[in-house]
Amino acid sequence: MAQLWGGRFTKKTDKLVYDFNASITFDKRLFKQDIEGSIAHVVMLEKQGILTCEEKDAIVKGLTGIRNDVEAGKLIITEEYEDIHSFVEANLIERIGEAGKKLHTGRSRNDQVALDMKLYVRTEVIQITEHLKSLLETLLDIMEKNLTTYMPGFTHLQKAQPTTLAHHMSAYFEMFKRDILRLQDIYQRMNYCPLGSGAFAGTTYPLDRAYTASLLGFEGPTLNSMDSVADRDYVIEFLAALSTIMMHLSRFSEEIIIWNSNEYRFVEIDDAFSTGSSIMPQKKNPDIAELVRGKTGRVYGALMSILTTMKGIPLAYNKDMQEDKEVTFDAIDTVKNCLVLFNGMLASMKFRNQVMEVSAMKGFTNATDAADYLVSKGVPFRDAHGIIGSLVLYCIEKDTSIDALSLDELKAVSPVFEADVYEAVSLKTCVEKRLTIGAPGKKAMEEVICIDREFIKNIWINEDSSHASGDVQF
Ligand code: ARG
Repeated sequence: MAQLWGGRFTKKTDKLVYDFNASITFDKRLFKQDIEGSIAHVVMLEKQGILTCEEKDAIVKGLTGIRNDVEAGKLIITEEYEDIHSFVEANLIERIGEAGKKLHTGRSRNDQVALDMKLYVRTEVIQITEHLKSLLETLLDIMEKNLTTYMPGFTHLQKAQPTTLAHHMSAYFEMFKRDILRLQDIYQRMNYCPLGSGAFAGTTYPLDRAYTASLLGFEGPTLNSMDSVADRDYVIEFLAALSTIMMHLSRFSEEIIIWNSNEYRFVEIDDAFSTGSSIMPQKKNPDIAELVRGKTGRVYGALMSILTTMKGIPLAYNKDMQEDKEVTFDAIDTVKNCLVLFNGMLASMKFRNQVMEVSAMKGFTNATDAADYLVSKGVPFRDAHGIIGSLVLYCIEKDTSIDALSLDELKAVSPVFEADVYEAVSLKTCVEKRLTIGAPGKKAMEEVICIDREFIKNIWINEDSSHASGDVQF
């Protein structure tokens, strides 16, 4: 039981209490961030004349040694420590003696953990942006190859109008693009450093908070020390962004599951991304898509959990806030796994273009265009809608499609029909005439693809990976 306090206690902590209170089993994930923050802190303490140069050098060397040994597997973070902060400090003192005891000067675990978590989340914002970028690249590739791959578009899961595979993929491109923009927005807002806020009221030492903020790659220091140690808004925003990513992945998964069904057969998921059944030898199941859809719930759960934790706690730090970690770590792992697996599944998935095109030709997906044809001949749209409606009824009874009717049959419903109707309601015309920006027509899609390509090129990823990875060198 190694802890950083105890002077004012007359009894040893009950073992159950110790275990309930301890966070080392999960906050050991923050060890790099903890060391990075501590190095910045002591470098600043020396600059401010609070530590000597020798003390600073010894501490930095000690901390770097701990980091290297943990990374090399030579030093194991064990549960005998209360939390990661105790582990690092105890090991430092063991390594360098007296000077190690000065590490915590002008600092509290409250601002320390606030910093560690912020550094960790900031790195993950970048890493998840990179995963999303890979997904956008896969989508763009499919779009470029499928500008004239016709397929039915649906509303109410009923065939509505024809579209293209490129157009359908482009819808998801937009969603994941917004997800990236959301993450970048969060990054900007969260990128202020809480270090130096102490327990909640700052300290009496002449700390240079702007300096530590800049050492750690922040825009600047946070402006209220009480808020600094009590703020987990950025965790909430981040989990909300992750929830939205999962919601998008889940909708996409649902479509793939439908498209992959025996009834649709629009796609075939690669064998490497499918699973079998223990009893039914013929089965090839879309388990990856189902798992992504299923795991969405646990990421929403993380968001609800932290929202609920934060809603009732008075200022400033309260131990409730330790609950921010496990759910956030789990949500991060889940989202990263889902993005990688989903991307792999999508990139290797076979689209059955012919099946999609045949499906697009059935189900009266050209009914709107047939009505528009009559409008072009001077019939008011409302009347045209009625005429085509009765034509559809006629086709259903005869089990045929509008474009398969003879001109005589068409004229019997409306004398306005001419021979040019067949061209007007052909699948190709229906799609290619839709040329407003954002519509599936080839020219319109090409314009969007150009914009999308630029977007991918300009995605902002913090190239200064020293800060992103917690590997600051001083
Ligand atoms: N393990 C704690 C957490 O995750 C660290 C901060 C502890 N601060 C304190 N005053 N007990 O929030």
